[in-house]
Amino acid sequence: MKVVVVGGTGLIGARLVERLRARGHDALAAAPSRGVDTVTGAGLAEAMRGAEVAVDVSNAPAFEEEAVRAFFETSGRNIVRAAGEAGVRHLAALSVVGTDRLQGSGYFRAKAAQERLYEAAGLPCTIVRSTQFFEFARAIADASTEGATVRLPAARVQPIAADDVAELLAEVVVGTPVGGTVEIAGPEGMGLDEFARRYLQSVGDARAVVRDDEATYFGAHLDADSLVPGSRARLGRVRFADWFTASRH
Ligand SMILES: NC(=O)c1ccc[n+]([C@@H]2O[C@H](COP(=O)([O-])OP(=O)(O)OC[C@H]3O[C@@H](n4cnc5c(N)ncnc54)[C@H](OP(=O)(O)O)[C@@H]3O)[C@@H](O)[C@H]2O)c1
Repeated sequence: MKVVVVGGTGLIGARLVERLRARGHDALAAAPSRGVDTVTGAGLAEAMRGAEVAVDVSNAPAFEEEAVRAFFETSGRNIVRAAGEAGVRHLAALSVVGTDRLQGSGYFRAKAAQERLYEAAGLPCTIVRSTQFFEFARAIADASTEGATVRLPAARVQPIAADDVAELLAEVVVGTPVGGTVEIAGPEGMGLDEFARRYLQSVGDARAVVRDDEATYFGAHLDADSLVPGSRARLGRVRFADWFTASRH
């Protein structure tokens, strides 16, 4: 079947396109670098023509609150309209576990706005909420660095490899729309501070990670379980330690 992957050139999108093709689907990577811009609408209707499934794994190119909100709202509206006009039977979007609990952050307010657009689209829809990607550990550390110190709370996380995200997404998007949210996560939990510390130590980064339960996560205050998925989350297989030995990072 034809599957349009919006953001199909990104970290998750490229892996998702690859897996869908391996399963025999006609996966189209829709992204500005491929002539499809969901903000301006350029190339979008043509990309959607004949599609049975559309999945949005795009991300905003800039992260200031207004920019990210404008991106997800405009892009989301255009995708929903184009998917409706094309008659897709399943519309899906990738979001973040705990988005509703992270509303102190401008980024997560924008993700919540994106989720609401999809939920209100009147189309058969699935929101897939993932935990933090292993590949995002450096960005988390960078965002919490002052001088040579990284300050992060010990709030629990259950991070996941981008390969596992793509594998689980591929299963969900070609399946039946759930009309709600599905959570996906990695196989093991750890503290957010530990996640960053293990990453930095493994790549030989000398920054010290200090536990600071008052430190924010992209502007949001975390409770112990803000980033933890529910008990029904679908789990990936790759462990953090194995990911280091198996991949370039
Ligand atoms: N980072 C995490 O730990 C995490 C956890 C859970 C969920 N998520 C969510 O996962 C999603 C994907 O993240 P990612 O890291 O894979 O993103 P990414 O690598 O930054 O890729 C972003 C993609 O969006 C495309 N894009 C940008 N502007 C566009 C536009 N105007 N029209 C169409 N496509 C556009 C880019 O296309 P070009 O290549 O042409 O620029 C690229 O394919 C995000 O929505 C994020 O919120 C992230």
